[in-house]
Amino acid sequence: MRTLIAAIDQGTTSTRCIVYDQAFGKLATAQREHAQRTPRPGWVEHDADEIRRNTERVVADALRDAEVRPGELAGVGITNQRETFVLWDRATGDPVAPAIVWQDARSQDLCDELRRDARAGELAARTGLPISTYFSGPKLAWLLRERPDVTARARAGELAFGTMETWLIWNLTGGPDGGAHVSDLSNACRTFLVDLATGDWDDELLAWMDVPRALLPRIVPCGEPGGYGTTRADGPFGAQVPVCGAIGDQQAALVGQRCFEPGDAKNTYGTGCFLLYHTGEERVASRSGMLTTVAYQLPGESPRYALEGSVAVAGSLIQWLRDQLRMIDTAPEVEQLAATVEDNGDVYLVPAFSGLYAPHWRPDARGVICGLTHHSNRGHIARAAIESTAFQVREVLDAMHADTGARLRTLRVDGGMAANDALLRFQADLLGVPVERGVDLESTALGAATVAGLAQGVLPAPKTLRANRRTERSFEPSMDAASVERRMRGWRKAVERSLDWAAAD
Ligand SMILES: Nc1ncnc2c1ncn2[C@@H]1O[C@H](COP(=O)(O)OP(=O)(O)OP(=O)(O)O)[C@@H](O)[C@H]1O
Ligand SMILES: [Mg+2]
Repeated sequence: MRTLIAAIDQGTTSTRCIVYDQAFGKLATAQREHAQRTPRPGWVEHDADEIRRNTERVVADALRDAEVRPGELAGVGITNQRETFVLWDRATGDPVAPAIVWQDARSQDLCDELRRDARAGELAARTGLPISTYFSGPKLAWLLRERPDVTARARAGELAFGTMETWLIWNLTGGPDGGAHVSDLSNACRTFLVDLATGDWDDELLAWMDVPRALLPRIVPCGEPGGYGTTRADGPFGAQVPVCGAIGDQQAALVGQRCFEPGDAKNTYGTGCFLLYHTGEERVASRSGMLTTVAYQLPGESPRYALEGSVAVAGSLIQWLRDQLRMIDTAPEVEQLAATVEDNGDVYLVPAFSGLYAPHWRPDARGVICGLTHHSNRGHIARAAIESTAFQVREVLDAMHADTGARLRTLRVDGGMAANDALLRFQADLLGVPVERGVDLESTALGAATVAGLAQGVLPAPKTLRANRRTERSFEPSMDAASVERRMRGWRKAVERSLDWAAAD
């Protein structure tokens, strides 16, 4: 009989299920997109029930394609878009409102209010995070404030809060019928409600944001031998399988890239772009706009931490060129279009669609395209779009260097947009270090499978996994320093132009 692991990757745009064998060979993949609802500027919502149904379908499809037989699955690992949350009725399992997505900026006024509080600095420092609409706490506070009916039911203990791994684990393990209500530490630490020093919900933070404790799940490690719960035999798994791994998508990519040692770093180019730098058992506070975050907590071990540079818009800019401007039909075509011009023609695009995240944290920024002339064409805009991601990563890496004093020798990369050679070539030029693309770009799902497999004891130790990691291709820097500096100056000017746009007037 085979020993298999199923990973569920509940992302911002789609949900995937991948079935792996013990050597991380992929036996089957199934994927479904869900609707992105933007009812007002700055708002982004998902239907949590649609996500639950999509999850059930991709699981059933992947298990069928891999011809999984009862007893072959050692466990299930879940990874997810972080910070997105839903509130649901514990008795019926029905969501009481749409899921509010990490990109959603509706809690801006509330964040401004929090920032004016005399205790703001001290309280925010506990979380390792800046006060921002990005995190679930202010979003949840907005919902509770907006909906007194929901708040009353929340206080009465009738409702449950969950980020997407919590929502899926609860549903897969029984829902109203005894479903496990848990959140893993790597997800929980992104709510703005957890004290990083204790790894638990913090009463003062909860009081600050008026969040009733009765809503909250139990915080658990990223892997649990035997599982947080088991799937129901009448559900999509068709058997009782331990749900034994849960980890936020960017931390999952860190694990998938086998970054298990302090000093290891990876960058994932997906919807957004997220660089994580492993700092071991030490929580390094940033002075440069990085987040301090839990990297992972393996069973029986203390948490490991990371510094994170979060960039809100990367691959989603390419989707925007495709869907809103209709400049391309598919995302990979952006590379051909960009190749029709020799350089960016001095055009810069700053995709500050929901403000700028790391390292600037400027909610008042909005997108700009600068430097247009009669000479500019679609190719230049495509080029500027690709380059904008590389510029943002360079700024994040500069901030990371300032915080750690360490210089990366190489950058390991993954994610859907890492398929773009032009991006990685330019990235290597801007960083001045080789950019290494792994063999499997889906590090996120790989990380989820890994924490589940480690929990069940069916994998080699992390240090062995790390020793076995492989690079598909390395992109070497080739641009001279003066050219790099000229481009960075152009980028910084463009960022200046994007600021102070959405300020209230
Ligand atoms: N060749 C390419 N060039 C540029 N961008 C690309 C290319 N291929 C894919 N993309 C972009 O990569 C993104 C998809 O990557 P990936 O699936 O890793 O995203 P993700 O963030 O994991 O999504 P989700 O949040 O839904 O999981 C899309 O935004 C898409 O526009
Ligand atoms: Mg993803």
